[in-house]
Amino acid sequence: MTPPLADLLAHRKPGYSLDRAFYTDPGIFEEDLEHIYYREWLYAIPACQLVKTGDYARLKIGAYDVILVKGSDGEIRGFHNTCRHRGSILCKASAGRVAKLVCPYHQWTYDLDGSLLWAREMGPEFDPKEHRLHAVQTRDLCGLIYICLADDAPDFEAFAAMARPYLEVHDLHRGKVAFTSSIIEEGNWKLVWENNRECYHCSSNHPELCNSFPLDPEVAGVSADGSISARLQGHFDRCEASGAPAQFRLGGQGQYRLARMPLQDNAVSYTMDGQAAVRRPLGRVALPDAGSLLKFHYPSTWNHFLPDITLTFRVMPISPTQTEVTTCWIVDRDAVEGVDYDLQRLTEVWIATNDQDREIVEDNQRGINSPAYTPGPYSPDWESGVIQFVDWYADTMTRAIAPRSVAAE
Ligand code: FES
Ligand SMILES: [Fe+2]
Repeated sequence: MTPPLADLLAHRKPGYSLDRAFYTDPGIFEEDLEHIYYREWLYAIPACQLVKTGDYARLKIGAYDVILVKGSDGEIRGFHNTCRHRGSILCKASAGRVAKLVCPYHQWTYDLDGSLLWAREMGPEFDPKEHRLHAVQTRDLCGLIYICLADDAPDFEAFAAMARPYLEVHDLHRGKVAFTSSIIEEGNWKLVWENNRECYHCSSNHPELCNSFPLDPEVAGVSADGSISARLQGHFDRCEASGAPAQFRLGGQGQYRLARMPLQDNAVSYTMDGQAAVRRPLGRVALPDAGSLLKFHYPSTWNHFLPDITLTFRVMPISPTQTEVTTCWIVDRDAVEGVDYDLQRLTEVWIATNDQDREIVEDNQRGINSPAYTPGPYSPDWESGVIQFVDWYADTMTRAIAPRSVAAE
């Protein structure tokens, strides 16, 4: 029998991995969905994924099924993928292009803005205006589409205001998706994040990534006292002098972080030789060795913005022990495959890295599944980012369930 979530949170040992139930228990998984994935703003897709009017992408978040569709006015809107007649799903494919959204059951037909255009023989009292598709809130942050499933969405603007100057120079609206990979990791979504937030594991697991990504705990982590080394500050200053915002910033009670971090000496992108992946760069970062703008926004995304390309990663929980990780490689829309970039060279480092991380996360989950597992200590130097993530998670959940525990007393 799993103890109540409030008790588990209250008795958590800071600086240690979580109790087994947080990674395995179906009830806690449902609480994670309810209090985090169904409440917070989530990164969904890059806007450039939907190119033409009627292009749509479908997204599953727990029990929800959402479609994002590009309207004739160019705006991307979100709708729940459930018909206002008797609830059938409207879009069955994961992506596609439609003129209108037509329900496969009785052909109720919706415009791309969600309004009901046509419903056969529904009687004189029927008002189509009362049967628009249920909307999902969306925001376009410099070419990154975020959605929120909650009716009372939390504030988005503080995050957007902090992120906008960092993102604008990358011109994501000029981008095209060169490649997308979607993998299922047999591990809890928090293990995916914990693994992402440290590079303690990199030297022994990621030979390809280590051609570019530095083995420096300051680059992946968060220093406890907020201090920045002189070397890193020098990098930030050089980037900022060239017009690319770089300074380390943490916001939203630890929900998001922005920092333009240096890569290995002589590396400018994530390729096997560390050199640029694309000859025609996406964006206006003038400094070739500006490194990677590392952005995370819990719970759904970490991103790398480089002088030549942008990589977005999306984390979607599927079950207590399954998580989908979707990666998009975004290049300038005028970059031609085979001329300005080679697809294998562009993608091989992160395809290999994602697969290595999948195996690590799956091994981690398998070990935690054993009743013999007990929470273990994080390295203060190398796993400061993991400590930061777990603290954010525990604080967010504690705040979310606080009224309920008070009411129960
Ligand atoms: S359920 Fe969609 S038209 Fe009937
Ligand atoms: Fe990794």
